Amino acid sequence: MTYSAVDRESLRALIRRLPRVRLAELPTPLGEYPRLARAAGVGSLLVKRDDLSGLALGGNKTRLLEFILGDAVSTGCDVLVAGGGVEQSNHALQCVAAANRVGMDAVVVLQQRPDARSNGNALLHEVLGGRTVWVGGDPTITNRTSSVSHMQHEADLLRESGRTPYVLESSLHPLSVVAYLNAAIELCDQFDALSVAPRRIYVTSEGSALGGLTLAKYLLGLAWDVVGLDWRPLQPSTLETLASVVLAASELLGLAGRTEGIDFLLRPSGEPAYGVGRSDSWSAMKLAARMEGLLLDPVYTAKGFAGMLEHLTEYPLDKDDTVAFVHTGGLGAIFAYEAEIRRHILNPLVTT
Ligand SMILES: Cc1ncc(COP(=O)(O)O)c(C=O)c1O
Repeated sequence: MTYSAVDRESLRALIRRLPRVRLAELPTPLGEYPRLARAAGVGSLLVKRDDLSGLALGGNKTRLLEFILGDAVSTGCDVLVAGGGVEQSNHALQCVAAANRVGMDAVVVLQQRPDARSNGNALLHEVLGGRTVWVGGDPTITNRTSSVSHMQHEADLLRESGRTPYVLESSLHPLSVVAYLNAAIELCDQFDALSVAPRRIYVTSEGSALGGLTLAKYLLGLAWDVVGLDWRPLQPSTLETLASVVLAASELLGLAGRTEGIDFLLRPSGEPAYGVGRSDSWSAMKLAARMEGLLLDPVYTAKGFAGMLEHLTEYPLDKDDTVAFVHTGGLGAIFAYEAEIRRHILNPLVTT
């Protein structure tokens, strides 16, 4: 029997006490993909469509920003300072869209890279507005917080001019973990409605989604395993940082001490690193599109989907088992990868 530290309704009530703004269309759909299930060698594959979360082009960050902007608004902040990624950042895009939705200004700090792509999310970012501050130093975003000093500097300037900034140093934040704890409750309700009990939940994450879904497993005593599919090779402090943010999230909910022994299952991505596809991720992108009309993005979800297929080959399940894949979005970046998509998916035999 699995031990449950808290029941679903009590957890829902604890989360409801936190300030929150509504940005997402929830629950996001949970669809069944039988042709991809056959390709993955499982009985049933459910895809949690967080790419359809309802803000701009959607994605995982919409959920997080409901709680983060809830905190910002309830503490009287009038400008969001965030970012940290490159010009194709899904997080930055969602931050600007969310700030627009609640009537806040947005300042986004982004890493300048020599091969920046002006299409895709960069174009959408310009459409959404906000002010962008370009910095240098970590274009492969190996360090989640490398832009923090620049964010703090912008925040100081804003304060001097009479504004009240809210600095979101990283999307990996205790409130982000709470957001995916809430997503896990949503999933439990959906699994119950379908009378299914998945064996594994796969998600492209080494951060808040992995943290929140895993925390839910521990708190609610769930039988499924959560497998985080990293989108980059493992960084030395990833799991340590994740554990401390998850602990802070459980403290926020008054559940500290209930997560003893919490452990994260993270499958690192191989090289090449951030933003560069591999032959298996291009194949996964093509497979999902051609088999079921499901679009994956080249930077995150195609790598994650490929990682799930590999993991299921290495650790196979029974032929009638169910698994779920959480689609975390990122679709705006597809348009910035036209050349690679043509080379690797559409004309793989043409070498340029
Ligand atoms: C589309 C998409 N999927 C997954 C991730 C990874 O999220 P996490 O912070 O949970 O590792 C990101 C991060 O920006 C993302 O944009």
